Amino acid sequence: MPPRLNLPDLGVGVGLRVPHYAELFGPGAARAPLDFLEIISENFLVEGGKPRYHLARALESYRVVQHGVSLGIAGPEPLDRDYLRKLKQLVREVQPPWVSDHFCWSGAGGAHLHDLLPIPYTEQAVSRVVERAREVQDFLEVRFALENTSSYLTFESSTLSEWEFISEIADRADIGLLFDVNNVYVSAYNHGFDPYEFVEHIPHQRVVQIHLAGHTNLGDYIIDTHRGAVSREVWDLYRRTLELTGPVSTLIEWDDEIPPLAVLLAEAEQARAVRAEVAAGARLAPIPRGIPQLSESNAAAHGWLQGGARETPSNEATP
Ligand SMILES: [Fe+2]
Repeated sequence: MPPRLNLPDLGVGVGLRVPHYAELFGPGAARAPLDFLEIISENFLVEGGKPRYHLARALESYRVVQHGVSLGIAGPEPLDRDYLRKLKQLVREVQPPWVSDHFCWSGAGGAHLHDLLPIPYTEQAVSRVVERAREVQDFLEVRFALENTSSYLTFESSTLSEWEFISEIADRADIGLLFDVNNVYVSAYNHGFDPYEFVEHIPHQRVVQIHLAGHTNLGDYIIDTHRGAVSREVWDLYRRTLELTGPVSTLIEWDDEIPPLAVLLAEAEQARAVRAEVAAGARLAPIPRGIPQLSESNAAAHGWLQGGARETPSNEATP
């Protein structure tokens, strides 16, 4: 199988967010040193107006990829044909090399919870997602990719690990993976597994894009807030991912307390530096394997004070 399923390595980009419109598209704005932008498809499924104006500005100067949040690939309802038709129209205009959404479901019985809900990792769920992912890819006539999400609970009915689940779906449906390295770390910390085992057991040639983001460590668990800088642990995991996948389009996501564009550009530079180190075959200090622990880096820099100290036998709260 060819690397990235023969899709291009676009370099390093950021998620397009409204607070950066002035810096990117305002009067006299220079082209930012970004190789591509990622849009949230749902924000542009409208006929015209400001969203379409800004999308046109983005397309004038940057490569653009599309990322969706509401498909509900694993949901119990039939696929939303109206949504897919609108998405396909947008694909025709944007011409992205791939289109992505998430391994999740978002509602049932007509209710939409606007969240990325976790899936039980069962063969039954694999079959359902495979069938629907193929259908979406065939309908959109562009390579489709699904993203691993962060999670905070596990299902007793799961019979597969998360990496087995997403790998089997990607292989059987012949789709790409949007590999979110931060989500792997968040879930590894929350559920107590080795994130490197996850990274090493996926079909690496199917990784068409990588996401990096900040998270908030509350001691007992981590929340995937997309706030703050990428943690040192996630940079280490990103480096190992690139060693296995080869160069892959990498995107910085930042969705809470969004800072000036310059801060995201600095994160993008850091991603470029890691890509260059891996490409040069640089030998680095060994990476600590195993279940992630609270460290000075992910505690001090990522909000550990918000949740207080992780409970240990010596400071257990007494009811
Ligand atoms: Fe992501």
